[in-house]
Parts: sequence; C-alpha cells; structure tokens
Amino acid sequence: MKISASILATKLTQLGNILPEFQSTSIDYIHMDVMDGNYVPQISFGEAITQEVSQLTKIPLDVHLMVSKPEDHFRKYLEFKPSYVTFHQETTNFGVRLSDEIRKANAKVGVSINPMTPVSSLKYLLPYIDLILIMTVDPGFYGQKFIQGGLDKIKEAKDLSSGFDISIEVDGGVNETNIRSISEAGADICVVGAGLFKVGDPSENGKKLKDLVRSVSV
Ligand code: DX5
Ligand code: ZN
Repeated sequence: MKISASILATKLTQLGNILPEFQSTSIDYIHMDVMDGNYVPQISFGEAITQEVSQLTKIPLDVHLMVSKPEDHFRKYLEFKPSYVTFHQETTNFGVRLSDEIRKANAKVGVSINPMTPVSSLKYLLPYIDLILIMTVDPGFYGQKFIQGGLDKIKEAKDLSSGFDISIEVDGGVNETNIRSISEAGADICVVGAGLFKVGDPSENGKKLKDLVRSVSV
C-alpha cells in the first residue's frame, strides 16, 4: 500500500517546514488537490503552489484536478514532472484525447469517479489510463467521513481493470480505522489528509498506517 499525502489538510504557509521533513519511506506521493471553485465549491491552489512544492521535495507528485474542463488546465502541471495527473470523469467529454496528451508528456493518467459515478463508466477508457481514483467522499473538502459504499467500488474497479496495468487509488476519509479494509478490498494507493496531519507527526502517522496494512497481509 502506498500513501499519498494530501497537503490540503495542512497549513500551506508552513509547507517550507513540513515538506523537507517527510520521509519517503512512509509517504510515497504528495497529493495536490487542485480546486477551481467551479467544479467544487472551494478554490485551493493551482500551478504556482504546485511548482513550489515540486521544488521543496523529491517525493513524486500526484496531481488531482478537481476542475471543470481539465483539458484547459492540465498542461501547466506537466512541467513539474508529476507521477500522476488525474482528472474527473464527470468533468470532460474528451477523456481519450486528454489521457493521450498526459501520457505523451510522460506522466501517468488517472481518472477519478465521484461516489455517485459508476465504475462501469470507465470501461471504454481503460486502455488509455494508468490509475482509477475512487472518491470515498464528495470532492471539495478534507476531513469528511469515508463513504462505506467505496469498498464495493474498489472491488468492482479491480475486476473491471483486470487485464490492464491499472492501479487503484482511494481518496477521502482514509484513516487508521478503515485502511485495512480498504487494502483488503484491493486498493494500491491511499490518499490521506486529516489522518496524517491533524494529530502527531505526519511521517510517523504514515508509517503507522502502513504497519496496519502490513499486519493484515502477512
Ligand atoms: C477531497 C480531496 C481529498 C482530501 C483528502 O476533495 O480530493 O484529497 O483532501 O483528505 P481526507 O483524507 O482528510 O479526507
Ligand atoms: Zn484528492
């Protein structure tokens, strides 16, 4: 299980202190929640903060675009060499073209689905993508409660994508109480915001989450 740390749940003004402290053994990706105030109610940050983060850490970036018309915005993020650029299935009519362009820039393509969007809506995109991001909260805010139906969707996504080289990422309300069942359902990457940053040391929390998962798989 890999952990992608959502810096939305931390104080952005303190990133200069927080990011260099991260241990890549416990945190595998930095999850950048880009929000436009249109697709989701809040505006978070965009390419300027993403660039700063890319300069403050060597941990690979996992860019999550919660924006309308991602085809108008994704290019700006590619120059920071992210591992993943993920857009929402609900936000574009041009998923294949967009995926092709992201891959051409040597980033991996993620597609995210909201809790009410069926896994089956991804069927025809499978050859073009590297990651399915299952939202387990309505997008827009950190610190929300995990929607249990997400566990079934992880299994469905695993089945649907068998035969393809596609990872499953889960985003929203992941913490030490549910990470084992998320792992057992088949997730490869968990985004964690409040569960890492709200109490204690983020790197230690990341390690603890990974230990919980490991004790299940042994
Ligand atoms: C929600 C974001 C998530 C969120 C995760 O719209 O996409 O990445 O910040 O934070 P937690 O783990 O607190 O739900
Ligand atoms: Zn996210």
